[in-house]
Amino acid sequence: METILVKIDEESPDLDAIARAGEIIKKGGLVAFPTETVYGLGGDALNPDSSRKIYAAKGRPSDNPLIVHICRWEDIYKIADPVPEAAKKLADAFWPGPLTIILNKTDLVPKETTGGLDTVAIRFPVDKTAQLFIEAAGGFVAAPSANVSGKPSPTLAQYVAEDMDGRIEMILDGGEVGIGLESTIVSLTGDEPIILRPGYVTKEMLEKVLHKVDVDKTILDMNCHERPLAPGMRYKHYAPKGDLTIVEGSLDAVTEAICQKSCAAKATGEKVGIIATDETVSRYEKNSRADSIKSVGSRTDEDAVGHSLYRILREFDDEEVTVIYSESFSDSGFGQAIMNRLLKAAGHHVETV
Ligand code: TXA
Ligand code: MG
Repeated sequence: METILVKIDEESPDLDAIARAGEIIKKGGLVAFPTETVYGLGGDALNPDSSRKIYAAKGRPSDNPLIVHICRWEDIYKIADPVPEAAKKLADAFWPGPLTIILNKTDLVPKETTGGLDTVAIRFPVDKTAQLFIEAAGGFVAAPSANVSGKPSPTLAQYVAEDMDGRIEMILDGGEVGIGLESTIVSLTGDEPIILRPGYVTKEMLEKVLHKVDVDKTILDMNCHERPLAPGMRYKHYAPKGDLTIVEGSLDAVTEAICQKSCAAKATGEKVGIIATDETVSRYEKNSRADSIKSVGSRTDEDAVGHSLYRILREFDDEEVTVIYSESFSDSGFGQAIMNRLLKAAGHHVETV
């Protein structure tokens, strides 16, 4: 299959191209598209064959449910029942935006889309191209992140092409995404609202609207052996090819330890990458002998860190780095999402100094 890549300017989108993308979805094909979080791999959420194709293209286990993307808030009533008051409040506050809400599904949504579950994850993205595309596709687009299973989610169309070329019909290239980490997922199907995956919409923000929100305890606890509630969080995920270690402690101790570890790894022939910050990058440049040192931005700017993390992990893959050391970040606010993804990328390998 030939994969067509079409550039879309969000300011003045090529509506013909978006209409063609919508037709592909309606005929059961697959199209990757930009959202404000990461690129999605879209198929018709109401067509079981499309969902099967998504799993095949990603190499993803079919018990890992997909998120259904909508472009009109009232469409939630077609795919979820009941729609509790809490869902309306969240939608009012955060939709369109980087929040996914899990509710009980209606019969309209096939189990192929929900990985066999009776619940459905629903998201209304704010990205203009995403909205136009979902509309053109009939209003219900199932979309996981557009990476091959086990790789970091794509933040650029070029990474989608690397993973999906020849496997899908079309890629809508909307440039680099804004947020860079996947949406917050909150489930409203139990007694209390609970965050299954942290993201840009933080626990603190959700609690302003819903009073009390729990967090799946497997998210940040490195020693928790219980199964995460979101099936996708159970798989090793977001993993770069190089062996990633997070080093935690005071900033001086961390930079010194990373420099030492990097020199030792160089001595045994490894190709070393370091995830640094604006505050520390020059220290590594002087003392680490690492092959590739990349700053994720300033430690005080969580948005910048979240925005660059996956791109940097992909760049290390391209550079065939074999060992990666990363500084650790605060795990409050959006930092919770950053640390969650970093811990998963590292297979929870953390050294405290
Ligand atoms: O930002 C995002 O959410 C991106 C963009 C494309 O919208 N999508 C995304 O999808 O990250 P995906 O498939 O890579 O991650 C969806 C996560 C998985 O961990 C999956 O197990 C979980 O959501 N999930 C989906 N439906 C669920 C359900 N009914 N119950 C529990 N977890 C669910
Ligand atoms: Mg994913």
